Amino acid sequence: MAESFVITVEPLGRQVVCRDDQPILDACLRAGVWLPHSCTHGTCATCKVDRVDGDVDHGEASSFALMDFEREEKMLTCCARPRSDVTLEADIDIDEDIEMFPVEDYVATLVSKDEIAKDTVRLVLELDRDMSFNAGQYLKFTVPAGDSGDAVDRTWSIASPPTQPRTLEFHVRLVPGGRGTDGWVFKDLGVGDQFPVSGPYGRFVLHTGQDNHTIMVAGGTGLAPIKAMLRHGLENEMYEGEMTLYQGGRSREWLYDVDYFRSLAEEYDQFTYRPCLSEETAEEVAAAGDDPAAYGFGMVTDVIAADHASLSGCKGYLCGPP
Ligand code: FES
Repeated sequence: MAESFVITVEPLGRQVVCRDDQPILDACLRAGVWLPHSCTHGTCATCKVDRVDGDVDHGEASSFALMDFEREEKMLTCCARPRSDVTLEADIDIDEDIEMFPVEDYVATLVSKDEIAKDTVRLVLELDRDMSFNAGQYLKFTVPAGDSGDAVDRTWSIASPPTQPRTLEFHVRLVPGGRGTDGWVFKDLGVGDQFPVSGPYGRFVLHTGQDNHTIMVAGGTGLAPIKAMLRHGLENEMYEGEMTLYQGGRSREWLYDVDYFRSLAEEYDQFTYRPCLSEETAEEVAAAGDDPAAYGFGMVTDVIAADHASLSGCKGYLCGPP
C-alpha cells in the first residue's frame, strides 16, 4: 500500500499530503496549491523548484531539464515522488486577476471526431460533470492500453471557452508512430468511447478585462488554446481591447476553422483575422479559385512585421511549432 508524506510549499506555508507513488505537482494541483508547470513529463524544467528538505525519487526527470549536479538541491515537481516529508521553495508568481482551479479526475465520452485539416481531427468530449477552467488550459488524457502499447498520458489543449464547462473541444494533429495519435485517436478511438481525463492544467490563459491590443499567433493545432481565448474574449465579452489572430499553415489544406474566424471578424469590430500561408503562393491560391487578398504570405512573423510598424503596447499569445 502506498505511504503518504507531507509536502510543505514555501513561501506559501501550505501543506499537502502526497502518496509515495504520486508526483508532488499532482498532489499540489489537486489540493488547489498552484505550482508552475508546463509539459508535466519532465522535459521543460518549468516546474523546477528548490528542495529545501526531504528525499524524493526524481522519476523520469530528463537529464537536460534536471542536471545531475542539481539533483541534491532541486527537483522537477512533475516527476518527483516523495520518499520522506519534503519542504520545497518555489517561485510562485500568481496572477491576482486569475483564479486557478484544482485538478480533478473526470470520465470523458467522445461525442464526435471529425477531420478538419490535413492529418488533423476535432474531438468533442462530454465530461461526467462540469469542470471549471481558464481559457487556454489543457487536459491530460489517459490513452488506454491496447495493441499499440501500455496506457500512457497525453495532453491536449481545450479549444472551447470555460462557459461550456462540460462539452469540450480539442484539435489533435497526427504524429506518425505516436502512441496517443497514430496508436489511438487516429486509430481505435470512436464515438461513444469513454476514458479518464484530468485537469485543468497550465497557465497559458487569457488575461481578461484588459484593453491592450492582443496579437495571437497560432501554428497548426496551436490554434486550440488560442481559439478558446478568442471565443472567451469576444463571445463572452471578457476582453475589451483589439484582438488579432495570425493563423499560420504551410498551405490552405493545413488551415482549419477559417470560415468560423472570418464570420467572427465580421461580427466583432475588435477582431482581425489573418490566415497566413508559408509555402503556398498568391498565384497558386488564385489558380485554385480562392482570393489571394484574404491571406498573408510568408511566415507569420514576416506577415506581422509587414502589418505593424511597432508592437509597442501590444500583448502576445503564441502557440505552435517554434
Ligand atoms: Fe515540464 Fe515539469 S512541467 S518538466
